[in-house]
Amino acid sequence: MERRHLAECGSTNTEALQHLRDGGGPLLVSASRQTAGRGRLGRAWLTDQAGNDAALTFSVAVTLPAELDLSGLSLAVGCTVADALDPDGERIRLKWPNDLFLDGAKLGGILIETVPLPDQRRGVVIGIGLNLQPLPPEADRGAFASGHAALQSLDPSATAGATLDRLAPALRAMLADFETLGFAPWQAAFGRRDLAAGRRVRVGDQPGVARGVSPRGELLLETAAGVLPMSGGELSLRLETSP
Ligand code: BTN
Repeated sequence: MERRHLAECGSTNTEALQHLRDGGGPLLVSASRQTAGRGRLGRAWLTDQAGNDAALTFSVAVTLPAELDLSGLSLAVGCTVADALDPDGERIRLKWPNDLFLDGAKLGGILIETVPLPDQRRGVVIGIGLNLQPLPPEADRGAFASGHAALQSLDPSATAGATLDRLAPALRAMLADFETLGFAPWQAAFGRRDLAAGRRVRVGDQPGVARGVSPRGELLLETAAGVLPMSGGELSLRLETSP
């Protein structure tokens, strides 16, 4: 897979999407600084812009069969990142469908975007942002609604380059498996790190108790009307009670 590093760009996802639209092959593009980082549901992805490499921001561009079900992809990506950075599985947890938490605060997020391509293929961009350094004292903590955790609290020696070198091969292997097997092989791994399991949550407007995920990566929400499978796309999950 080709690798490219940019000192600065708007969004590595935008760069990767354009690369696929231009007919490019597999690419990993990272940036020391994003000026217009994007999150899910039209939100901005904020990092402490005072320091370059305060966060690791990168995107992987691949082409996959157009008919492949991508509903569990962000969960498989989350499991892969968490297992690579926290192999003992004790501190990094996953919040369906796309958040990584460390010790109860948001460590990072995943943004998957697609672009139609010819020949029954689909361009898929997996954008990952991970906070590396703690916020400086003067930072506006109110801007980080889910809190802010830094990878350096787990591994004080974590740098952008070393973290990317760990994640790149793991993500490549995960994508090869996902293309043939879909999400099902990660269902149990997600369960071990599921931040919401057994907690009262709200998914969109629907309240309930989170009961794990299906083999397709849908959140299983226990409601008065039974267990409802919820798909990630436009939905986000709010935790309403502590474990
Ligand atoms: C979220 O938490 O809603 C997802 C955040 C995803 C951020 C990453 S940073 C690299 C890539 N480029 C972007 O503009 N967004 C993703």
